[in-house]
Amino acid sequence: MQKNQDVYKAVIPVGGLGTRLLPATKVLPKELLPVGRRPMVQYVVEEMRAAGLENICFVTGRRKTLIQEHFDHDPELVRHLQDRGLDELLAELAYLESGFHLTYIRQSGPQGLADALSLAEDFVAGQPFVLALGDSIMCEPEMGSLLRKMIREHLEHDVAATIAVEKLPPERAKAYSFVLPQEGTAVQAEVFEVAEVSDKPPQPSGNWAIAARFVFSPAIFAAIRRSRPSRAGELRLTDAIRILLRQGKKVQAVPLSPDQRHHDIGSFGGYFRAFLEFALKDHYYGAEVRSYLEELMARKEEWYGDE
Ligand code: UTP
Repeated sequence: MQKNQDVYKAVIPVGGLGTRLLPATKVLPKELLPVGRRPMVQYVVEEMRAAGLENICFVTGRRKTLIQEHFDHDPELVRHLQDRGLDELLAELAYLESGFHLTYIRQSGPQGLADALSLAEDFVAGQPFVLALGDSIMCEPEMGSLLRKMIREHLEHDVAATIAVEKLPPERAKAYSFVLPQEGTAVQAEVFEVAEVSDKPPQPSGNWAIAARFVFSPAIFAAIRRSRPSRAGELRLTDAIRILLRQGKKVQAVPLSPDQRHHDIGSFGGYFRAFLEFALKDHYYGAEVRSYLEELMARKEEWYGDE
């Protein structure tokens, strides 16, 4: 694991209501919905650790205390497994022992992502830091490599924000915010300067959707303070990034490489896609799931109209 001396803190907001996933999220925080074998937010924490970020701050909200429970030690459960010699299951709890430090801050209500982030200003204490959305999983051959690259580029170019971006097919693009590159950016650029942030998909050529991972300098907090709530009463992160740009601060984007994939699990479409991928890749059940899927694909006529 590569360690970065200058960036070692991450903020993971988990205070939203998860309304798009109702009724699954009526009681269970969306960030705890299982994807394959783990609750989705556990992958996010493991990614932070892999990127050398050992200080993690969750911004939580009402009905989110179960997230804290998930990352709490449970001596009774450990003793139970030890007494029965269930070593494989004990190993599944190793995520609790991996030496990270967790802080929890509570957002008083779902007043937007930028509001959630603003609460972590004291936690980041004037240093550049990572923001990772708690409902998004990054699949990559080497866990943490996207963030390590973003941190490297951020420090090297001394910018106010570094944003992960990806190209999306038009049918999935509608739900996202986008960045527009500065003119003259090479199509294959490893990192490019951002000219504008847009809440509507631009032309396919400029189709760079924001992909749930950011490195920010502390200037983002002053920009959030300057931004105004949207009509829905939320402080939006895209508005704060726009303010950074208007102030003449540099914002850059790092495109995901072809072998990196971002799963946004805020909607059922994203959730189903992610779960399917993790189930198909499962080391134990993957083969069984793959053959069941083939069987299902051969019975297309039975698909229409679920429940
Ligand atoms: P989303 O906007 O996707 O989550 O925020 P949401 O608000 O829970 O979703 P819907 O629209 O009601 O279905 C992305 C991440 O930011 C957190 C969410 O918990 C999610 O992990 N978030 C969002 C906050 O922490 N606070 C907020 O006010 C909003």
